[in-house]
Parts: sequence; structure tokens; C-alpha cells
Amino acid sequence: MSRYFITTPIYYVKDAPHVGHAYTTVNADALARWHRLVGDEVFFLTGTDEHGQKVARAAEEQGMSPLAWTDALSPRFAEAWAGLDISNDDFIRTTEPRHAAAVQQFLSRINDNGHIYKDTYRGLYCVPCERYYGPDELLPGNLCPDHRIPLEELEEDNYFFRLSSFQQPLIDWYEANADIVLPESKRNEALSFIKGGLNDISITRTSIDWGVRVPWDEAHVFYVWYDALINYVTAIGYGQDDDRFAEWWPSVHHLIGKEIIRFHCVWWPAMCMAAGIDPPAQVQVHGWLLLGGDKMSNSSVNRITPADLADEYGVDPLRYHLLRDIPLGSDGEFSAEGISARYNADLANTLGNLLSRVATVVGSKCGGVGPAPDGGSRLAGIAVDVLAEAVAAWDAGAPHLALESTWRLLRETNAELESAEPWKAEPGPEVDAVLGSALEVLRIVSILIVPAMPSSAREIWRRIGLEGDPADQRLPAAGAWGGYPGGRAVEKGAPLFPRRKD
Ligand code: MSP
Repeated sequence: MSRYFITTPIYYVKDAPHVGHAYTTVNADALARWHRLVGDEVFFLTGTDEHGQKVARAAEEQGMSPLAWTDALSPRFAEAWAGLDISNDDFIRTTEPRHAAAVQQFLSRINDNGHIYKDTYRGLYCVPCERYYGPDELLPGNLCPDHRIPLEELEEDNYFFRLSSFQQPLIDWYEANADIVLPESKRNEALSFIKGGLNDISITRTSIDWGVRVPWDEAHVFYVWYDALINYVTAIGYGQDDDRFAEWWPSVHHLIGKEIIRFHCVWWPAMCMAAGIDPPAQVQVHGWLLLGGDKMSNSSVNRITPADLADEYGVDPLRYHLLRDIPLGSDGEFSAEGISARYNADLANTLGNLLSRVATVVGSKCGGVGPAPDGGSRLAGIAVDVLAEAVAAWDAGAPHLALESTWRLLRETNAELESAEPWKAEPGPEVDAVLGSALEVLRIVSILIVPAMPSSAREIWRRIGLEGDPADQRLPAAGAWGGYPGGRAVEKGAPLFPRRKD
């Protein structure tokens, strides 16, 4: 058994979560659920990033103290994730005492190791990004490349982290580990940034006091990104519980959006090296959900909440769409038509249709009792291939491919039923063989869709007469052909995914 520690970025509590945040969280959840299915011990962490100027300003605009604001906003993330069936094991808030303690210890260690010094900093700062930009990174007119707003000139006495001295160690680390950053294009992007030369970075602020205090100089608070990245080690007991920390670190997989590559693929591994711990095992980078060609964000006029979509389409269909239609690593345009089209094609017409057909014919030809599968079915070979493809796809961080293969098995099964037409045949061994194999496919598919659609998986499992929860099955053993026992009552029930008219 191996350990799998998966994280999402911790989200700024500037506003309630939007679908872009849900995209990351659902993908991380699916990965966590997949790893539980294959028997790994999983720790899945998400949470909220509550310090920094951006949050302080959002609170001020509402006439609230930053803490009152974050206390009000952070639970909205936790609630949104509960509403999407997210199975996180912990939810960290950077305003928690456990986090302040870890940040202070981690950065004191870096300081003690000689990687921090004091100097004056002058530069152009983007508050929404919470970072300084160099002149070569800006859009014409000194605009932020992400937010397209004019940047603010700031000058401060800061403590600096000697990032420059980690250039060669980072290059060596990248060269020794081919897949620390996925996909490869993002690995190359990070590596070429490192090879282009690294400047030291300012890690403290005196201009605000909403942050974790610098233990060796109380006039300063740590810059929000420094505080935020450390959440990943706080949650597994850094500085508090060494045994626990050693169990989970560095077997960590950070799932992040592409705009925060530099923080996770350059700064964070360098910080880990400076603090004397191993850098993270893997950073998986995904693209953006776009709305009309622009990144969805809190500030978009047409902001859509995950809860609205879950009400309209159902939690599992929303999760399925996010996983199936926007391959991790690519950008994807978000649209109501896109969700509806996927819903009708894959859920109503393929999976839902198979389930209701099988249940109906088992009712009419087998007295409602599901027969055992046929060992010689053509579908058995396809199921073996699909299981292998799913394993490979999840390992490669490609949920869309895992689901695509799974749907191939479903389509082949529907095709098999159409050619055998058991609904027209006399009850007997041939009908039993066809229906038993279709039930076996439904059993295997229930397990394979646990990461994407955990409650639909449970419902299919129950309707075909199986006990317990498919999430408790263990792959690959449970995916072997022939596991459906037969002799179980199969329930017809209402359509699981009624066809949408829009
Ligand atoms: N607080 C920092 C992260 C600190 S991690 C130590 C931050 N927060 S954020 O609220 O802006 O969320 C960023 C993450 O939300 C992105 O990296 C991405 O995972 C997700 N997304 C936000 N908008 C998104 C889209 N439009 N599309 C896809 N993911 C998006 O940055």
C-alpha cells in the first residue's frame, strides 16, 4: 500500500467559490477517490487562503474586520465542497493557530539556514495576484498580464529569500525527476523560467499587518504567498508531529491552475530545499475554465456558482462534465450547452439507458432476478482492456481518458443488447447470458465511476442488487470479469438521468 497526499490550492476568501474553483476541487476529489479505490492510503487537503492585501481589502469594502470577513466566507467554501460530495480529509484555514505556528517554524528554519536577508524593495505590485511583476512581464501600459489592471508602485523594507541561490539545485532536481511537473509542457515552462535566472524575492511586508508575524522581527508579517504555500506541510503536522509529517511528506501531489506554476514549481520546491525537507513529489497543472474566452473568476459579471449548476443538472452530472469535458492541462470553454450535450449523450442515452433497459428486461424475462454473467462474452475482453486503460489514465492524471474508456464499454454493451434483442427472445439461457453480462458491466462500471459520480455509482450498485458501497471495492481485483453473483433482485426504478429537453 502506498500513500497518496493530494492537495488543491487554498482559495482566497474574496468571495464565494465559483465554478473555476470547483473544477480544481472536483478533479482533486476524483483523484483522491481513485487512489482509495486502488487501495492507497489517501490524505486529501483543501482549504482557504485568508491573509494578504486582497482579502484585507475585500473585508474593508464590506466594512468588516479581516477576521470577521474570513470567518464568514471560509465556511462557504467548506459548504460548497460538501454540496459537491467532496471527500477532503482536512480543511485548512490559514488563520488557524496550527498554521501560524508552522509558518513561523518553517521560515525560521530557512532563516537559520542562512537563506534570508533584509533589503529595500521597490516594484510594481498587483493586489489581486498578491505579487510583484517585473517590467518584462507586463502588458503594454504596465498592466497586469492576468487581471489587465494598472499596477501599484510599492517601496518597502523587506526580508528577502535567496531564491537565486537555488537555481542550480532546482535545475538538478528537474533533470533528475522527469515527471515532477505534469503535463510536460508545464514542466518545460517552469524549467526554462528557472534556467532564465532567478531573482531573490521579498517575503515580508510592513505595509499591512493582516498576516503571520515574522518571529524575529515583529514589525513584519510574512507575504501571503509564503504563508499560503506552507499550508501543505502544516496540515500533516510540520513542526508539531514529526512522525506524521514523515509519513506523508514528500509523497504529495499538488493540483494547481496554470497561473500559479511559478509559486508551486519554483518557489515552493526552493523553499522546501532551504528548510531542509524534500521538495514535493509532483505538481499537476491544469488549465482554465473560460467564459466567452476569458478566465472565469470572482469578478466575472456572469459568475456562476457551483450550487446553481448542481441544482440545475445534479451534483454527479456536474462533476462528470467537469472531469470528462475539460482535459486536465487544457483550457475549456464553459457553457450550459456543453453540460447538457454531455448529459444527454453519456448519462441519459448511454449509462441511464443501459441501466433501465437491463432492469426492464430482467423484469420481463427473468422475473426480476439478475442472471450471472457469461464467461465467454465478447464484453469480458473489452472490460479487461477498459480497466487497464482506466488505471493508466488515472495514473497519468487524465480523468477524461479514464471516463472515455469506461463509456466505450457501456456503448459496446448497449450495442450488444441491440443486436441480441433479448426483449424479443424467449426466456432461457441465451437471454440470461446477455443480461448477466450487461449486469456484470454495470457492476464494473459502478466501481469505475466512483471517482466521478460517487452517489450514482452507489445507486446503480444498489439497483442491480449488490450490497454495500462500490467505493469500498478494491481495484484491480474487483474489476475482474465474473464478479456479479447472479440471483439478485434487480430494481427498475425511475430513470437515473432523465433526458433533458434543452
Ligand atoms: N490563494 C492562492 C493559492 C495559494 S496555494 C498555496 C490562489 N487562490 S485563488 O482563489 O485565486 O484560486 C486559485 C485556483 O483556483 C487556481 O489555481 C485554480 O486551481 C482555481 N481556479 C480559479 N479560477 C479558475 C478557472 N477559471 N478555471 C480553472 N481553475 C480556476 O491563487
